[in-house]
Amino acid sequence: MSDGQIQTEHIHLDADAIDEEQISHAAQVLADGGLVAFPTETVYGLGANAFDENAARRIYEAKGRPSDNPLIVHIADVSQLDEVAKDIPEVAQTLAERFWAGSLTMVLHKQPTIPDATTGGLSTVAVRCPSNPIAQELIRKSGVPVAAPSANRSGRPSTTKYAHVVEDLDGRVDVIIDGGDAEIGLESTIVDLTVDVPTILRPGYITKEQLEEAIGEVRLDAALLGGTGGKTPDEAGRDGAVGQTGTAASDTDAGLHPKAPGMKYRHYAPKGDLYLVRGSEGDVVRCINKLASAAQRDGKTVGIIAAAETKERYRFGTALDIGERSDEEAVAASLYDVLRQFDALEADVIYAEYQGGSGLGMAIENRLLKAASYQVIDAPKPMQSSRRRKIIFVEGHGNARSAMAAALFERLYEGSDMEAVSRGIVVQFPEPLNQKTEAVMVPNGITLEGFASEQLKDEEIDQDTLLFAMEERQRQQVIAKFPAATEENTHLLSEYVGDELEIMDPYGGTLQTYGICFEVLRATIQKLSDRILEEKTL
Ligand code: TXA
Ligand code: MG
Repeated sequence: MSDGQIQTEHIHLDADAIDEEQISHAAQVLADGGLVAFPTETVYGLGANAFDENAARRIYEAKGRPSDNPLIVHIADVSQLDEVAKDIPEVAQTLAERFWAGSLTMVLHKQPTIPDATTGGLSTVAVRCPSNPIAQELIRKSGVPVAAPSANRSGRPSTTKYAHVVEDLDGRVDVIIDGGDAEIGLESTIVDLTVDVPTILRPGYITKEQLEEAIGEVRLDAALLGGTGGKTPDEAGRDGAVGQTGTAASDTDAGLHPKAPGMKYRHYAPKGDLYLVRGSEGDVVRCINKLASAAQRDGKTVGIIAAAETKERYRFGTALDIGERSDEEAVAASLYDVLRQFDALEADVIYAEYQGGSGLGMAIENRLLKAASYQVIDAPKPMQSSRRRKIIFVEGHGNARSAMAAALFERLYEGSDMEAVSRGIVVQFPEPLNQKTEAVMVPNGITLEGFASEQLKDEEIDQDTLLFAMEERQRQQVIAKFPAATEENTHLLSEYVGDELEIMDPYGGTLQTYGICFEVLRATIQKLSDRILEEKTL
């Protein structure tokens, strides 16, 4: 895998029972000017002695990172802060007490002992005290502050697992410490304390709200407010983790040293072209299915970043879920791993459901936008035609198979210009939902409260209506009985989607029979959706 010449040593440590000898050895490698990749609670870091100019330079080499991008300096304890920073404001003490050890990085004025190679020539230094016990022990034992960027090759997603680090840095560094998966999964929050009002340069696990609770007013860097910060998407795409030209321009020595040098480089990028798709859940799923289907037709390998809730609704390409949408911590923890999985699959194009919000959601949104180089697609709203296209599923009584089919279809097309209903061919009086039908739908999240079966009426069939029968016999019955139902608009559902078998009648069967029927219909309705997607244009 590696193109480096270094023999990398691999050390496996348990954070709850750290092997004394092994950690001391790794610490010694650091103190001697070597490179050690180590776990932190945010992402893995690639460490070097922060006082050692040559060691810092080796980091840039190993990462393939431009050498004017400053490194975060890690300390084992707040008492070490004076070694790296000076003129430390009161708010820094407050924040350290409140959030250290933890995923907060503070930008402060640097001590002259910190070489330019570590800070990329800046007069400020970014400092963090990680909470991961292995990281703490490593730094403490090395006896020096440890400069460490994320342990990934430049331009690739940060590493949250040992395997990621091996993938990127084996053969390029002296030691890789395996300490299991990073708990948080996104890089630390960076707050600049060298300006009048503390300013968040990079959102992370520690939120703006938490910081404000501790120290009062906190600003967001301008680049984080406007998405692209007024730049073209292309320019913005080459930006790094933090800051933007606007911030630097308002700074005194801006022309020489931009405040947030990371901005010049493209960060967190998967190999495939990533697009974020924004809109209501239904619109997003439909739009991605449409785009994925087209890309696949063009011979591309397609990846989709879905939520646990939506994964099953994607029909083309490979969909991976990044956790439940509501569980931001889970999403944060798996995002980079999912991006890397698409690299391994050699996805040419990746569509991701847009995720954003406040708190941790802001950090997720920020990383997704960076990874996508700000390529955001607004999912088109359903067509606002005066008439909705209606799909009618028909069967004998209209309260079992056709009701399942209509409900499954509605779930896929909720809020669109397509409407699905269930009708009976002969309904003497309205009946509730068949009990076993209800029993299999409820565990699948479908409840049809107040359902009453309805008789199909000739008047409700117009030129925009499609009718689907479950059995051929019933299709013929419908065409014979209703003048508006014709060979053109009335289809056998299974035949329409290219299946051979009719949708079996579960009536009189066990609950399991109904369950099988539901599963068959679920697959059939997905196929129907695919066919509709193929026929309609965006
Ligand atoms: O969670 C983290 O912060 C991880 C772990 C390893 O601690 N580290 C990390 O480092 O994300 P890195 O190098 O990938 O990102 C550091 C960011 C860069 O965007 C850099 O431009 C910015 O911090 N930075 C470093 N020093 C700075 C400074 N003095 N002023 C402004 N930004 C700075
Ligand atoms: Mg990084």
